Amino acid sequence: MRRPFIAGNWKMHCGPSQARDLALAIRNGVLGSPDVVDVLVCPPFVSLAAAAEILAGSTVQLGAQNVFWEEKGAWTGEVAAAMLLDSGCQWVLAGHSERRQFFGETDETVAKRLHAALAAGLKVIVCVGETLEEREADQTAAVVTRQVRGAVGALSMQDWNSVSLAYEPVWAIGTGRVATPEQAQEVHHLIRDLIGEMASQATQEAVRILYGGSVKPGNAAELLSKADVDGALVGGASLQAADFLGIIAAASGS
Ligand code: 13P
Repeated sequence: MRRPFIAGNWKMHCGPSQARDLALAIRNGVLGSPDVVDVLVCPPFVSLAAAAEILAGSTVQLGAQNVFWEEKGAWTGEVAAAMLLDSGCQWVLAGHSERRQFFGETDETVAKRLHAALAAGLKVIVCVGETLEEREADQTAAVVTRQVRGAVGALSMQDWNSVSLAYEPVWAIGTGRVATPEQAQEVHHLIRDLIGEMASQATQEAVRILYGGSVKPGNAAELLSKADVDGALVGGASLQAADFLGIIAAASGS
């Protein structure tokens, strides 16, 4: 059985003081509940150190939302993997659709970020997902296959231990329009098959695949009940501690 994994992507919300408050509410909220779910929060870069201070010693893990692939140097505005580790991160996201849509992220740059992060000792959630236009043109499987192969096609067996995937259909992100559990399961199953082709059967069974796109306390349990949906990457609902804790509670029962 794969251990459920609930991750909050705070996107461009919460500077250091707000991040402290939200991290504290989440830390206190999971305190005393059975430790059966992996919980991760991903604040903006500037709030990582503040959140790390609050989360030290708790089971809530810390991640960043992006990473650059160079180690150091004249790369104004960029942040290296070692800096994220130094700020208390265990995880980083790579290839979020907002990076792909608005910041020129490609399958190639996702792979570069992934490899740099792994080499530095970070764990990575690689995000994939089709746009509405692609879904309506029946391109979902082709797009997701290309994105998955492009990002994680060249991983070593050992690297796979540090990688999770997130399926986030772009049309379900921040829209309130959630994929049906069946739609999610169909794509998650495809991704798991691809992992089997690229890696091994053991890896295929071990890697966690999260669903993202308008996950709320009210729809989490149904999504998580699907065989290949191992967790959630939560945007909007991760900014309210009560909602995020509700999703974690749903995962505890899944
Ligand atoms: P929402 O939960 O706000 O739809 O965002 C999903 C997402 O993009 C998480 O990375």
